[in-house]
Amino acid sequence: MMNRLHIGMALVCGLSWAASLHAQDSTAQVTTTLAASCAACHGPQGNSLGGTPTLAALNKDYFIQRMQGFKNGSIPATVMHQHARGLTDDEIIALAAYFAAQPRQTPLTAPHQAFQGAQ
Ligand code: HEC
Repeated sequence: MMNRLHIGMALVCGLSWAASLHAQDSTAQVTTTLAASCAACHGPQGNSLGGTPTLAALNKDYFIQRMQGFKNGSIPATVMHQHARGLTDDEIIALAAYFAAQPRQTPLTAPHQAFQGAQ
């Protein structure tokens, strides 16, 4: 009797552990896929090759603030309004964490990143 209960518990625990691992996996995967669409303009892992701001190692709060500004139209932009509007708040937060974790290989880019906060 006790043994059966134990096996049952172990199974349930094992299953929910596997499910949470899977959830984490797919979030990371979605974020990497989203970030790949940014690479076309912002360079590999957010290291701009010129003409666009660097995203690699940007401060997370700054990143979120900029993206929300593009999303609600309060920050002037050429192309970013369109890109930000396609993202949910959660996706913006996930992308902020992703880019903050990328090593910076290229300098910050003026004029967008001339203010304090971008580091
Ligand atoms: C078509 C090219 C293009 C794509 C694709 C693109 N961006 Fe941008 N991004 C720009 C340009 C150009 C700017 C400067 C603002 C503007 O003119 O829109 C910018 C600005 C930004 C900024 C502000 C940086 C700062 O310091 O002001 C962030 C953050 C950003 N982009 C994130 C992203 C993310 C995240 C994605 C992918 C979901 C993405 N961008 C996709 C071209 C692009």
